[in-house]
Amino acid sequence: MKKLLFCLMAMMSVMTITAQSVYDYSVKDDAGKDVSLADYKGKVLLIVNTATKCGFTPQYKELEALYEKYRKQGLEILDFPCNQFGEQAPGTIAEIHKFCTANFDIKFPQFDKIDVNGANAHPLYTYLKSQREFGGFDLNDKIGKLLDDMFRKQDANYDKTPDIKWNFTKFLVSRDGRIINRYEPTAKNESIEADIEMELNPVLSAIMGRRSVRKYLDKVVEHEKLEIITRAGINAPSAVNRQQWQIRVVEDQKLMAEYRNMFMGAPNIICVCTPKNETEYNAGLMSENIMIAAQSMGLGTVCLGGPVRAINADEKYKPLLDRLDIPDNYKLSYIIAIGYPAEQPKAKPRDASKVKFIK
Ligand SMILES: Cc1cc2nc3c(=O)[nH]c(=O)nc-3n(C[C@H](O)[C@H](O)[C@H](O)COP(=O)(O)O)c2cc1C
Repeated sequence: MKKLLFCLMAMMSVMTITAQSVYDYSVKDDAGKDVSLADYKGKVLLIVNTATKCGFTPQYKELEALYEKYRKQGLEILDFPCNQFGEQAPGTIAEIHKFCTANFDIKFPQFDKIDVNGANAHPLYTYLKSQREFGGFDLNDKIGKLLDDMFRKQDANYDKTPDIKWNFTKFLVSRDGRIINRYEPTAKNESIEADIEMELNPVLSAIMGRRSVRKYLDKVVEHEKLEIITRAGINAPSAVNRQQWQIRVVEDQKLMAEYRNMFMGAPNIICVCTPKNETEYNAGLMSENIMIAAQSMGLGTVCLGGPVRAINADEKYKPLLDRLDIPDNYKLSYIIAIGYPAEQPKAKPRDASKVKFIK
C-alpha cells in the first residue's frame, strides 16, 4: 500500500512538472462537474479569484462590463471564488452564485470554490503562480500602498513569494495558452482592457507574444511552413521596392548538425544577407515579418548577431559560407534561428519613455 502511495505521489509530481499550459488542468463547475480548461483553447482567458464580501467586490461590475464588450470576440472570464483572504467568500457556491447574479448580473462562468495558496492550492493556481510571480502593488495607488503596508507589517518579505495576495488577482491567458500578465487587485481596469484588446487581435498578440527563444525541441520545421514564413518576410516594405536582401534558409540537417550549437540548438536557420556598405534596415523590416509570422504559427525564433561575427571572421566557417552561396556584393548580416520552442521566455521590460507624442 505504502509503495502504491509512493508511486502515485511520484506520478503526480511528474504530472505537475510536465504540465505545459493551462489546458492541462481540470476544474469543477458550480455543479461539481469536471471541466477541462482545454475546452477554452482559442479563447482569451481572464482568470480571477473572487470574494463576495470584499472591498473589491464591486469589481464584478467591471468584469461583467468587460465580458459584455469582448465575449463575442473571444474573451472568457473564469471566476474562482476563494475564501482564503479575510474569509470574505463565505457560503456555498450556490449562495455565492445567487449573490453575484442578483447584484452584478454576471454572465461569465463561476466555478466551485478553491484554495489558491497553501497545501490545498488548486494545481491550476500553482501553475499560474509559477508562470507569473507577484509583481508588487502599485504604490502610487492609495489602496495599493495600504495593502503593501499591511502585508509588510505581517511579513517584511511578503513580496518575495508568488502567492496570491488578495481577492480579485487576475491572470490573462492568450488564445494559445500563454500566461500574458498577472494583475494585482488594485490594477487599473483600463490597463487590463488594453491588454485584452491586444490579445484578441491576432497580429498584436503575435507581436506582443514574440520573445527570443533560446531552447528548441528536436523537431525540424516543415518546409511548407518555412515557405510561408519567408513569403511573409519578402512582403515587407523596402525603399523603392529594391528588396535589398538575400535570404538563405538552411534545411540540410547534415549541415545543421555541424553548426547547431552555435544557433541555440535550433533545427533550422534563416541567414539574412544585405548589400555591402549599404543600410540594413530594409532587411531588418523583412526579418521582423519573418519572426512575427513564425510566432503566429507556433514557432520560436531568435535573431543572432554574435555567431555571425565569428562566422565572418574565422576561416574555419568558410565551408558554411560556401554552402550559403552569397553573391559577392552581399554580406551575411545576422542569422535567425527558428524551431519549435522548448521554453516560454518572459517579456523583458520595454522603456515607454522613448515614445513621445507631439500634440
Ligand atoms: C540584430 C540583433 C542581434 C542579436 N544578437 C543576439 C545574439 O547574438 N545572441 C542572443 O542571445 N540574442 C541576440 N539578439 C536577441 C536580443 O537579445 C533580444 O531581441 C532582446 O534582448 C529583446 O528580447 P526579446 O527578443 O525576447 O523581446 C539579437 C537581436 C537583434 C535584433
